[in-house]
Amino acid sequence: MKRTVQIPLLFGLALLMRAGMGEAWADVSAEQGEQLIYLLRQDCGSCHGMTLRGGLGPPLTREALAGKRTDLLEDIIYYGKPELAMPGWQGLLSREEIHWLVERLMKGEVP
Ligand code: HEC
Repeated sequence: MKRTVQIPLLFGLALLMRAGMGEAWADVSAEQGEQLIYLLRQDCGSCHGMTLRGGLGPPLTREALAGKRTDLLEDIIYYGKPELAMPGWQGLLSREEIHWLVERLMKGEVP
């Protein structure tokens, strides 16, 4: 009897702790990371260039992004700028995934 109450309680607590971690991009697993880099090269690369040095879209290299606000960049990716041909990715990518990608791009750590 006791157990049936405790388990959901612990589960709820675990969820709360996860949410409390806020920007935790520990949420992105290694496998997910690989998929995100693939998407970055293939899908984003179709406009920003396979090497991210620009094409229809501006370059996404560390140099090009230096000094820009990460939260604004993340919003651009999330919502897109339809009037400027940048699609929004909110249906496909979570905020955590976008955050992870922007962190990589800002650091120039794109394998
Ligand atoms: C259909 C073409 C297209 C695709 C696909 C695309 N983008 Fe863009 N992106 C653009 C254009 C065009 C702009 C410039 C909008 C502007 O002038 O403000 C842009 C702007 C951006 C910016 C802002 C850059 C800056 O310096 O302000 C970021 C970041 C970005 N894109 C990331 C991505 C990511 C990440 C993906 C893949 C998940 C992606 N884009 C896919 C066309 C595209």
